[in-house]
Amino acid sequence: MLFSVREFEALARDRLPRYAYDFIAGGADDEVTVRANERAFARLRLLPRVLRGHAQRDLCTTLFGNEVTMPVVLSPTAFHRLADPQGEQATARAAAKAGTVMIASMASTVSIGDIAKAGGADLVLWFQAYIQSDIGITRTLIRRAEDAGCRALVVTVDSPVFGWRERDNRNGFHDLPPGMHCENMRDLTADGGVRDIEMVPGLSWDHIDRVVAMTDLPIVLKGVLHPADALTAVEHGVSGLFVSNHGGRQLDTVVAAIDAVADVAAAVDVPVLVDGGVRRGTDVVKALALGARAVGIGRPVLWGLAARGEEGVTEVLELLRAETDRAFAFCGCASVDHVARDLVREVRC
Ligand code: FNR
Repeated sequence: MLFSVREFEALARDRLPRYAYDFIAGGADDEVTVRANERAFARLRLLPRVLRGHAQRDLCTTLFGNEVTMPVVLSPTAFHRLADPQGEQATARAAAKAGTVMIASMASTVSIGDIAKAGGADLVLWFQAYIQSDIGITRTLIRRAEDAGCRALVVTVDSPVFGWRERDNRNGFHDLPPGMHCENMRDLTADGGVRDIEMVPGLSWDHIDRVVAMTDLPIVLKGVLHPADALTAVEHGVSGLFVSNHGGRQLDTVVAAIDAVADVAAAVDVPVLVDGGVRRGTDVVKALALGARAVGIGRPVLWGLAARGEEGVTEVLELLRAETDRAFAFCGCASVDHVARDLVREVRC
């Protein structure tokens, strides 16, 4: 039995080949932001309320019309088959069982259609896209996500170029092992091959306008940190924002995601999610107190998957659920609406 997300990371580290562990754990340059994401949560301290008499807590919330059983969703992460042979299919089954959203990465090693099939009718599936320079290809990818039954589109905007990952360079990890592919990128070329995912340095608000016009799905922009960008995003018709620094994997020394969430949430009146460094239920409570509707977890899902496959992802999600429920009880919160701003204080440490 494992008792925390950290223990799952330790077990995953034992089980994974070095290059795969480093790909998942690592980040850009000096990994300042990878560390900052977790440390920023430690600097935030709780100021609980007592004697509120809540015998039961309700962790349910609604995200763009989708009901979820807890304010924790699975952030999009690439290449789940590096962690487990069943890859994203195992993750989808665990997310469906937990009753929360899985955001499938465009760089998944199982196609979006097969992820949807594995998750079944209970899965709330969203699709994460990197806008490609060929707008026709972007449209095809979005149609595939719609056809698979995805209920929102998460457009990642923090990656105009690839982050510089020194661990991957050192390990020579530049391509997926034989037999693994980015399955969503299949059949997009005339010869029916698998196309590489491009990062598009010229990405601009014009691209967002085109994507907004292309689909009826709610669009969530992922990778927004500045409140002025959040405001502009809403003016361009997006339905929500995902405050994120990509887990410290793109621009190093960028602010910790949790430190950016309050200003973004104050700037807009659409739902705001945040990811980066969430490892405990108390982190979930802090994010909600600062204005997030829900948090995402990236690496913890992959640690669960690498440690114990589908069951490991279930265990990670249930650990976080139990921790969040306990933190709600300690803080005097009966539901997500009770998590108030004054529950959090910042300390210097
Ligand atoms: C990611 N992330 C990511 N984001 C995205 O929009 N598309 C992607 O394909 C990926 N791929 C990816 C792979 C791996 C191995 C990791 C660790 C992360 C970023 C991810 O969605 C999320 O923002 C961070 O992982 C959140 O930080 P934590 O929870 O990992 O600390």
